[in-house]
Amino acid sequence: PPISPFAIRFDAEAATLSPEGPTLERRMSDLEGLFADHDAWQAAVADGDPVVYRVQSSPVPEADRELPQSITTIERGTTAGECWMTKGHQHPNHQGEIYLALHGTGGLLMFDGDRVEWLDMTPGTIGYIPPGWAHRSVNVGDEPYSFLAVYPGGAGHDYGWVLEHGMGNRIHRTGDGFALRPYSA
Ligand code: PA5
Ligand code: NI
Repeated sequence: PPISPFAIRFDAEAATLSPEGPTLERRMSDLEGLFADHDAWQAAVADGDPVVYRVQSSPVPEADRELPQSITTIERGTTAGECWMTKGHQHPNHQGEIYLALHGTGGLLMFDGDRVEWLDMTPGTIGYIPPGWAHRSVNVGDEPYSFLAVYPGGAGHDYGWVLEHGMGNRIHRTGDGFALRPYSA
């Protein structure tokens, strides 16, 4: 049955939505094949398999014509110098999406299979993901990074695309910040 109009309370500081829908937790073990240093990834899995990020959804369903939202919070951390990040995905039907940065310091890495784009994401920034661009969020700051996503309910998540094509760049922590480095095969 179609859902009725309703209000969602949004707390930017706490990075929560209320009422709550499903919450997803991604641990290091869920990020296989994504960090450049496989041995460092495996060691982190063996050493407590930490939560890398959480995604809290509102109750709006991921269904065609609906407009769901979720808040992602990425912990601060690195794996062999690579900043903690989301898995990243492509929308199979190439629909667009927006992200609104809420807390901490992050970035939005996008790749269309050819071109790479990076957007600095600080509280108040809306990052626009055009149709056809795979997208990954990265925590480049010193505290958790949170953002709100609003996306078409039928967009879907193709994670295999990123495993196959990569994201064009990797994001490494440096002495005084971070650096984008090209993938090496
Ligand atoms: O809809 C989105 O793009 C986001 O809500 C992501 O799904 C979320 O940030 C988690 O990233 P991923 O789906 O790549 O694991
Ligand atoms: Ni998406």
